[in-house]
Amino acid sequence: MVLNFQKDISLRPFNTFGIDVKSKKFVGIQSTDELKAVIKQHQEAQLLVLGGGSNLLLTQNFEGLTIRIETRGIEIEQEDDGSARVKVAAGENWHDFVLWCLENDLGGVENLALIPGSVGASPIQNIGAYGVELSEVFESCEALSIKTGEIKIFNKVDCQFGYRNSIFKNALKGQYIITSVQFNLTKAPHQVNTSYEGLSEKLGAKSPDIQSIAQAVIDIRSAKLPDPVQIGNSGSFFKNPLIPTKQFMELQQQFPKMPHYPDQEGKIKIPAAWLIDHLGYKGYRMNDAGVHQNQALVLVNYGDASGAEIKKLAQAIKDSVMENFAINLEFEVNIL
Ligand code: EPU
Repeated sequence: MVLNFQKDISLRPFNTFGIDVKSKKFVGIQSTDELKAVIKQHQEAQLLVLGGGSNLLLTQNFEGLTIRIETRGIEIEQEDDGSARVKVAAGENWHDFVLWCLENDLGGVENLALIPGSVGASPIQNIGAYGVELSEVFESCEALSIKTGEIKIFNKVDCQFGYRNSIFKNALKGQYIITSVQFNLTKAPHQVNTSYEGLSEKLGAKSPDIQSIAQAVIDIRSAKLPDPVQIGNSGSFFKNPLIPTKQFMELQQQFPKMPHYPDQEGKIKIPAAWLIDHLGYKGYRMNDAGVHQNQALVLVNYGDASGAEIKKLAQAIKDSVMENFAINLEFEVNIL
């Protein structure tokens, strides 16, 4: 086993915001055994674990060890006439995995096409888009305990999935590194989900196959969301807030056009993008930090923005939403 530790390297290529901060130590790992060895050698170290680096805002140099998960492998473990159980290494790129499913005609993740990031990061925030969440196809994941070095299996209940949320963002934050994820996928004829506003219109009346759904999602996302390769970003920077029905009724008097969706009991989900847009922030730019001109939920780095500048903009938006709507916007992105 040859581990290539590097010193004082820029993390710019490893985060989709393209923020130029340095990590004191850095190592890429290609297998779970390598990961175990690194963890064992660095029991006392401060760790930053990176997958695709697509849900992260770095605001300062990192004095510890950055571990980049670079494991690969997609394997059908079990199958019958109607379904297949597939095990995927944490380091696989999420969208590449979706493409693999389309090639193999396995259904369940087509609505999640083009989400940036790695497979290992997908359960942490229970990625979701166009009416589907990861939790719907998730069977289990394997994760390494940083404390004990043992692998533990988490099933769906263990993960405590919620809207962009799981146990890995809460009680177990920073304690486990996900090494692989197992999915339950369907074989044709697939049960597809075209319920999301905008997706059904795009697909027209025909009953679509999973490949056309993925294509429609790719078209919609490409038209609206910036490609991180061209303009640094982390997808939605904020979560869509849930507010009590009573508060919504009061706000509706003042803002009759405010879009809203009933959610859990007694709560209404408001698109954060609408709130930000309504305050005039869409397309706003402060040096190289900005709000994307096509989707107000996405903050962007036009080139040389620092993490601190993007954080400052995010905080200004959060404060303004609180002042004008009395709604607390939560960051979806992890700030370090
Ligand atoms: N809207 C505006 N201004 C904008 C954009 C949207 O007013 O600039 C309003 C419109 O009324 C629109 C509503 O917001 O109908 C909802 O917008 P959209 O359908 O684009 O979805 P979203 O709620 O803004 C969420 C996810 C996205 C995901 C889309 C599609 C969150 C935080 N974001 O966005 O996820 O792609 O739905 O399902 O839940 C991500 O997490 O990185 C991400 C991009």
